Amino acid sequence: MNIIVVAAECAPWSKTGGLGDVVGALPKALARRGHRVMVVAPRYSNYEEAWETGVRRIYNVAGQDMEVGYFHSFRDGVDFVFIDNPIFHAFEGNFYGGSREDVLHRMTLLSKAAVEIPWHVPCGGVCYGDGNLVFIANDWHTALVPVYLQAYYRDNGYMNFARSVLVIHNMAHQGRGPLKDFGGLGLPDHYLNKFRLYDPTGGEHCNIFMAGLITAHRIVTVSHGYAWEVQTREGGWGLDGVIRDHNWKLRGVVNGIDDNEWDPEVDVHLQSDGYSNYNTLTLDVGKAACKAALQRELGLPERPNVPLLGFIGRLDHQKGVDIIAQAMPWLMSQDIQLVMLGTGRKDYEDMLKNFEGSHREKVRGWVGFSVKTAHRITAGVDILLMPSRFEPCGLNQLYAMRYGTVPVVHAVGGLKDTVQQFNPFNESGLGWTFDSLNADALIHAVGNAMWTYLDFKSSWKGIQQRGMTQDLSWDHAAQQYEEVLLAAKYTW
Ligand code: GLC
Repeated sequence: MNIIVVAAECAPWSKTGGLGDVVGALPKALARRGHRVMVVAPRYSNYEEAWETGVRRIYNVAGQDMEVGYFHSFRDGVDFVFIDNPIFHAFEGNFYGGSREDVLHRMTLLSKAAVEIPWHVPCGGVCYGDGNLVFIANDWHTALVPVYLQAYYRDNGYMNFARSVLVIHNMAHQGRGPLKDFGGLGLPDHYLNKFRLYDPTGGEHCNIFMAGLITAHRIVTVSHGYAWEVQTREGGWGLDGVIRDHNWKLRGVVNGIDDNEWDPEVDVHLQSDGYSNYNTLTLDVGKAACKAALQRELGLPERPNVPLLGFIGRLDHQKGVDIIAQAMPWLMSQDIQLVMLGTGRKDYEDMLKNFEGSHREKVRGWVGFSVKTAHRITAGVDILLMPSRFEPCGLNQLYAMRYGTVPVVHAVGGLKDTVQQFNPFNESGLGWTFDSLNADALIHAVGNAMWTYLDFKSSWKGIQQRGMTQDLSWDHAAQQYEEVLLAAKYTW
């Protein structure tokens, strides 16, 4: 099959979170299965090894003509095409920044340019538009791809073989705006009803995600748990009814992890400053070296046996940082160390700095995002905390398990799917989960994890070993995506 993956971010060039990781990794796994795969993302800055193709096209966005260029790179069997226009450059480092209209204009331009790529952009002589094509769009940002595909091409008979799959990574963001937004999209009037969502309060608004969900041939969520949650009132953020109406085309596929990036045995970030690579056989020695190196690097007392807890993630409401804050008095009453890394809401960033300021012997709050530090924390800590309010898939718990770090998670979405609760009676399970999102539940779970870490060493090691030896690779997920793509392909 010919597959074109379209997204607002793609690691390693652009990434704010898990979406970028997925878009960087899934295409390679699909290419390994013998498909022709292209990724389309904005060119936010000057990327090395991505060359100008010379192709230029003009698209109208909200009444304004915009010229785009296309840059191309070929890596790991995948064509990467970057859409070039000053409106993307202006938001390097803050891809979702600017006014609501700014973001909508960028996403509209990206989607319009992406849909026509098979005809305009030569990729080493390969034609993607030869009749065997499926687009994979991601989140509301590119939910216009299936809509444009239908409006401009299928309804006109041209490219009427192309199909689309829309992946939901996060339902909380939908591209909502006033109804007048519709006017700027350049769609036939009768498409308005795909965008118009009536609120329970009697109002109405324009919803980009909804139109994509209605129009796409298949929908994927990034875990099974999340596929269920988006059909509930709490998890659907107003679109649960739409998803329920279309659940015949919905499937959950749990994300994989990029083995080249996340493998403690070859991780380049563990090859200096006293860190060490390790595998299941050298786990004890290797992880101890990483823990000591992390404590040294962060200026925490170098103590091998103190439980070292970590948190990595965007600092926002979704990630439950406030729950950690509420558990702070208890945590600080224990003999532990805690490292937190992330950026996001200003008040949470300040909170991290305050934690560190008032507990310098125990806490480090690192405001910023550093790939290297994320790898080092993942390797160096004993326990990773993920008290997310909702978590469509979650990747950090997968990375943690791969590194012999034990996750303690709120049992929602992908966290529930991937972290099986430790059972001391039959020595099974991968970590600790808690059902209700509050500080007491978190404390209870962390308490059990710490107790096991300190007093039941062989159980602890069993948890680590089970986590490290799971097949978390993308190959498995890619196989399931292939099934979805085939189903889309044979849908009229
Ligand atoms: C979003 C979700 C996260 C998921 C990621 C990749 O960031 O919040 O749970 O892992 O997308 O699918």
